[in-house]
Amino acid sequence: MSNKMWGGRFGEGPDRIMEEINASIGYDQRLYAQDIRGSKAHCAMLAARGIIAKEDADQILAGLDAILADINAGRFSFSRELEDIHMNVESRLAERIGAAAGRLHTARSRNDQVATDFKLYVRDAIAHLDEQLAYFQLALLDKAEAHAATIMPGFTHLQTAQPVTFGHHCLAYVEMAGRDRGRFQDAARRLNECPLGAAALAGTSFPIDREMTASALGFDGPTRNSLDSVSDRDFVLETLGACAITATHLSRIAEEIVIWSTPGFNFIRLSDGFTTGSSIMPQKRNPDAAELVRAKTGRIIGDLNALLIVMKGLPLAYSKDMQEDKEQAFDALDNLSLCLAAMTGMVRTLAVNDAAMHAAASRGFATATDLADWLVRRLGLPFRQAHHVTGALVARAEAKGVDLDGLSLAEMQEVEPRINDEVYGVLGVENSVKSRTSFGGTAPDNVRAQCAWWRKRLG
Ligand code: ARG
Repeated sequence: MSNKMWGGRFGEGPDRIMEEINASIGYDQRLYAQDIRGSKAHCAMLAARGIIAKEDADQILAGLDAILADINAGRFSFSRELEDIHMNVESRLAERIGAAAGRLHTARSRNDQVATDFKLYVRDAIAHLDEQLAYFQLALLDKAEAHAATIMPGFTHLQTAQPVTFGHHCLAYVEMAGRDRGRFQDAARRLNECPLGAAALAGTSFPIDREMTASALGFDGPTRNSLDSVSDRDFVLETLGACAITATHLSRIAEEIVIWSTPGFNFIRLSDGFTTGSSIMPQKRNPDAAELVRAKTGRIIGDLNALLIVMKGLPLAYSKDMQEDKEQAFDALDNLSLCLAAMTGMVRTLAVNDAAMHAAASRGFATATDLADWLVRRLGLPFRQAHHVTGALVARAEAKGVDLDGLSLAEMQEVEPRINDEVYGVLGVENSVKSRTSFGGTAPDNVRAQCAWWRKRLG
């Protein structure tokens, strides 16, 4: 049997393999609510413009509502023969209300229909991710407030560099998540033009009102070019780009959590709820969730990459290639949402080992820069020379097996005779962080001020 939606000119139905490669209903059934919403807006517009009769429109609208209720209640069985969500819904509408159903597809095409449905879906997904990102920021902010003065080693090259506070470190991720939210909000703003009414590619000769459908669907207005309307998937690419960057940020904190929770570091203890045990080694507490966030970043980047490659070189306007946008987008959006939930849970419930962080910051000569700065400030040495003197002092301390403040004044004076005992005032890690008062620096009072800034914005 030929396809009952478009089979007019076909003698027989599609090959089984053709059906398998062509059908998208297995995944695009997720768009049912958006599809029905779009169809209702289109139908109301057709009636308002006198393109279809009011009685037909009423039947169509009631039929679509009934189908929505059926799908929500799990009473709808999707058919692969009907290819995609658009034809599944329309075909069921015909079964329910008869001939009037055939009028719904006036002045539209599946090409503008799918673009509209998918924009509605992506817009909702972005709103959800934005909310999740805000919760992630709040979890980090709570930790930052509690640990504004908790000292840890700051690293460059993963080598102890200078002491910072754990609160400061948490706020670094709050900033990243803030920019991630900005990228999603930008994408949502840019996508908010309605393709419906572009029809197959050239517009339509029916006197439609695109402003009306656009505003019924919460768009800022209609798209301005029908060819672009049906061939644009950069709203998906942009969203996946924002997903990939967000996931990349999450993978960095995931990696830090993995590092911090090793016994060698012991900076944090993940909660039991976000830890797994080993089936053979009873002592193990594995950070599987963090590892999986780290790994899922790979597939999310892959989703973006895959769709970029699908879109690359496609001629205008619609090509079936574009159907391959959905699985990539669903995969990225679902996995990012899961990663955000897992990471927020981990951050919220992890316990900070202040003593281990402090001890690590006090090893590794983290205050060497403070010593060099002191030599510049108090003794007037050029920084390069101060750097050299400090290097010599670090070598002495290392040989003696102590931190810089474990050197006696006499030992220091052997290297630089003008050093006096005021120097001990800058050598402790507390003194070091307290002195970092430049805007954006790690001094606990700065961190508290930044926490207050974010608290006002996040609530
Ligand atoms: N299932 C299709 C998609 O996701 C809908 C558009 C089909 N249009 C067409 N002319 N075959 O892209």
